[in-house]
Amino acid sequence: ANAGGALVTTRKGALGSMPTTDEITRMIESNQQNNDDRFRPGFHFSPPANWANDPNGLVYYEGSYHLFYQYHPYSNKWGPMHWGHAISKDLVQWQHEPIALFPDEHGAIFSGCCVVDWKNSSGLFVDSHGLVAIFTHADTHPVTGQPRQRQSLAYSSDKGQTWHKYDGNPVLAEDDLIDFRDPKVFWHPQSERWIMAIVAGDHARFYASPNLLEWTLTGEFGKGEGSHDGVWECPDLFELPVDNTGRTKWVLIISIGDNPNCPEGSRTQYFIGEFDGNTFVNDNPADHILWLDHGRDNYAGVTWSDVPQEDGRRILIGWMSNWKYANETPTGSWRGAMTLPRVLSLASKDGNVVLIQAPVREVEQLRKEFMSWSGITVTPAAPFIQKMNEDLLEIEADIDLRSGSEFHIRLKSSGLSEIVIGYDPAKEWLFIDRSNSGVTDFHPSFASKHGAKMVSKNGKIKLQIWVDRNAVEVYADHGMVVLTDQIFLDAPMDRVEVSTQSGEAVLDSLQIHTLEPIHILGGGRNEA
Ligand code: FRU
Repeated sequence: ANAGGALVTTRKGALGSMPTTDEITRMIESNQQNNDDRFRPGFHFSPPANWANDPNGLVYYEGSYHLFYQYHPYSNKWGPMHWGHAISKDLVQWQHEPIALFPDEHGAIFSGCCVVDWKNSSGLFVDSHGLVAIFTHADTHPVTGQPRQRQSLAYSSDKGQTWHKYDGNPVLAEDDLIDFRDPKVFWHPQSERWIMAIVAGDHARFYASPNLLEWTLTGEFGKGEGSHDGVWECPDLFELPVDNTGRTKWVLIISIGDNPNCPEGSRTQYFIGEFDGNTFVNDNPADHILWLDHGRDNYAGVTWSDVPQEDGRRILIGWMSNWKYANETPTGSWRGAMTLPRVLSLASKDGNVVLIQAPVREVEQLRKEFMSWSGITVTPAAPFIQKMNEDLLEIEADIDLRSGSEFHIRLKSSGLSEIVIGYDPAKEWLFIDRSNSGVTDFHPSFASKHGAKMVSKNGKIKLQIWVDRNAVEVYADHGMVVLTDQIFLDAPMDRVEVSTQSGEAVLDSLQIHTLEPIHILGGGRNEA
């Protein structure tokens, strides 16, 4: 049941039953009454209450960033999907908006994207432009009884405040494909048409359209390429310059679903190559796997669409969880948060092109107090210890590994738990160890140590770490290596300890900013 709002019908189609803003506010308030909120993030986006997964329909339009997301407003577990909605002027402070899309006669609203139809190619707008959401309608096939997924549209002429489902839904159905979902659409100026990247179980498909309504298959990619540990989900395809070479490359992001036999759970990979307007061609050998994030909690990430941002940045947001245990995390009456928005760019490294990530510069506005140290030698007998009164931090460390011993930054709670961010020079391995990180017993594979290959430069490494109440994000090697992990300490983090396992290391520089929590207006605990 959905709080019993009025049935709204529009010129182009039925919207379904919509709770009013008051009803949503009441629902949020009643949800928060028993809310153990100590894991509610301070500066990552989280839903007003209940369940959220993938970010959807990221779009920048007339001065606002829109974030839609997979939302189940009536429970803290995954269920019939809606599109939640929030807007931001700066990607840092958010405002919750009423739910944008409700399930309807064609099914639940799975992941998808949003574009600005600037030229009214769809004819859905009265001689102007507006927002078009392209998403997956998920239901059950009336004859076979199998899950069915078809692609549909909704549109908004008032900057995303109200949405109308298109009368001709679904606009794209392929009866013999399974797991056919998560359309990502962009305008391709070279061929003057819309391109849709979409997945179908074990491969990505590309469709083209003059008007967003009629779609023609132009190519396929992926069988036998990259990781197939799980079902392919949430594709994204875009072009970026490589360094300052004047050259460009295409990036195809593919999330792969959880596989019970893989301890890593759901993960995101990317491919570098070319897109000729019809299909994608991988530059790398088919068995070469590039991971977007080496932590366990960055999934279903997609970027803002082709609409130019202020300065043409390509910005990614991911869902900071993992299907392995997403439904079990100990966050109380809300569940699921987003990563920091990250600017993506490409660099060449040892002859290969790789993706680089950095949090958007706007997050610097959250910086509060600043502490800085330099030239500190640490050993196991003489660690560096800084007590903290606040648990939202940005840490930047330049480390000289000297003796070549394993190096640790430990974020410790006032209780017994800690999260270790470490580097093992012998294995050239950057890792997060959350085995003793507090509440871990909700799933056997949560308490793990995992990481990525990373080569130090002249025995030095540089780490940038964002610490929130539910997660850490670690950026290293100029953003070429990123680890994002949820953490649930037993008590608030109150100490930063830096040490080695055996020999000595020198903190050439250590800088810590305490951070202001963000304000999410219109619901949720972050409200000002
Ligand atoms: C990815 C995903 C998508 C799907 C959505 C459903 O996390 O499984 O493939 O559209 O979540 O909520």
